[in-house]
Formats: sequence, C-alpha cells, structure tokens
Amino acid sequence: MKGIEGVGALVNFGNWLQNTSWALALATSDWVYPFVQATHFTGLSLWIGTSIAVDLSLLGVGNKRQPPSRLSDALFLWNWIGFAIAIAGGFLLFSVSAATYLINLAFLTKLGLLIPLALILHVVVQKKVRAWGQMPQIPAVAKLAGLAELLLWLSVATAAVSIPYVG
Ligand code: HEM
Repeated sequence: MKGIEGVGALVNFGNWLQNTSWALALATSDWVYPFVQATHFTGLSLWIGTSIAVDLSLLGVGNKRQPPSRLSDALFLWNWIGFAIAIAGGFLLFSVSAATYLINLAFLTKLGLLIPLALILHVVVQKKVRAWGQMPQIPAVAKLAGLAELLLWLSVATAAVSIPYVG
C-alpha cells in the first residue's frame, strides 16, 4: 500500500514538473529541446571522457610515466564542470516528460541505482588516486576500482539509450 502511494506521489510530482512554464516551453519549441539534448551530451562527453581517462590510467593504459594522480588533478576542474552541465541538461530533458520517465524502468535504474553507485565509486577513486600513485606499483584494488567505474558508466549509458524501448 505504501509502495503504491509512493509511486502516486512520484507521478504527481512528475505531472507538476512537466506542466511548469519552462518545461512546457521546452516541449513546444522546435529548437530548444535539441539544444538541451546537445547540452546534456556535451556535458557527458566532458564528464565521462575525463573520468574514463583516469580509470584507464589506473589500468595501465596510456603514458605510464605520468601517474594517474597527475592526470586526475589536471582533469579535475573539467571533470566536475562536465558533470554540472550534464546534470543541468539531464534535469531539463527529464522535466519535459517527467511523469513518463518516473515510471520507466530504464530511467529509474539509471537515475536511482547506476548513477549513485558510479558517482560514489568516482569520488572514492578521486580521493584515493594520489595514495595509490605513490605506491611502487598500482595496487590491484585500484585497478579493480578503475575497471568497475568504467563499466558502471557504460551501464549508465546503456540504461539511458534503452529508455525509449523500455516501458
Ligand atoms: C551523469 C550521468 C549521466 C549519463 C552517463 C547519462 C547518459 C545519457 C545518454 C547516453 C542519453 C542518450 C539516450 C539516447 O538518446 O539514446 C541520455 C538521455 C537522457 N538523460 Fe541522461 N545521463 C546522465 C545523467 C542524467 C541525469 C542526472 C538525468 C535527469 C535528472 C538525465 C536525464 C536524461 C533524459 C531525460 C534523457 C532523454 C531520454 C530519452 O527520452 O531518450 N540524465 N542520458
């Protein structure tokens, strides 16, 4: 019973959101929606690209003379700028059909499970990368964390592209 009430509250919130003035303007404009889509993808390219570069470096791919921590430091700002752009664009896309997305299994898996897991691992990797880089060899746990983060972001993207095909 509580579960059904929870779903009802989510759908009510979705209906409210998609009827806000900015969501209606987005939904009815010919060019704003594609622009917001492009914004989401631009942010994602920055976010995923810079995150995966560090993961691959932990896995020993690329310039081995450059420690992963140096790469992580150099990309840190662009990494989080990309994240902010992706989240802003994603939220605006979501607001257009919020009630439908909130009962879409692929969307719920992406937002409620995969993104939180990947994000937690990303922050752990960013915090630990310096200590791992100071060891004589990158430890197995660091490689595992890099591989897991990489696979989790790929799963997020897979869930995202499945949204239109899943009820
Ligand atoms: C930061 C991690 C994220 C990743 C890797 C990601 C990935 C993607 C990808 C690859 C697509 C393209 C799907 C397609 O057109 O085939 C997409 C679309 C979309 N994303 Fe994200 N996204 C992220 C965050 C978010 C967030 C936080 C939200 C909402 C608050 C969001 C909402 C959406 C929506 C509504 C679509 C359009 C789905 C559709 O109707 O096809 N995304 N995302």
